[in-house]
Amino acid sequence: MSILPILVAPDPRLKVKAQPVTEVDDALRRLIADMLETMYAAPGVGLAAPQVGINKQLVVLDIAKKDEEAQPMALINPEILWRSEETNVYEEGCLSVPEHYAEVTRPARVRLRYQDSQNEIREIEADGLLATVLQHEIDHLSGTLFVDHLSTLKRGMILRKLEKARKFNMKM
Ligand code: NI
Repeated sequence: MSILPILVAPDPRLKVKAQPVTEVDDALRRLIADMLETMYAAPGVGLAAPQVGINKQLVVLDIAKKDEEAQPMALINPEILWRSEETNVYEEGCLSVPEHYAEVTRPARVRLRYQDSQNEIREIEADGLLATVLQHEIDHLSGTLFVDHLSTLKRGMILRKLEKARKFNMKM
């Protein structure tokens, strides 16, 4: 397994619509293992393939707390089938938007369909933190970051700071 470099906004590769996965094979399972390792090392609770420069509809996540047993999940070609009218607000961050956090309002519950790493089609209904993390990660597959849910002003502020930080890092 290996840790993959994570792209940081504003990187154009984070804004691309990801392609469906057509083969659930050993190469894809290796990618899932690498993405989970990358996510745990970061550390983060979710990671989408475009964040490591891979243009595929694949996300991994684990919302277990530090003192709980790991609960890794990999979702291939996930599709949200239903969203509740009721909403929830969580303070979100993102491995591609380092050191910035903001409250985001999203549907409180979602039902979705995906393929697991054994190519079985599954449907789940999620609420609470899981619902938010799933929506955040699936957003990445259409090139949407959590900052895209904020006001233009707030988003601009965060992206300008990240751009500045990147220029500064490149000089060193
Ligand atoms: Ni993210």
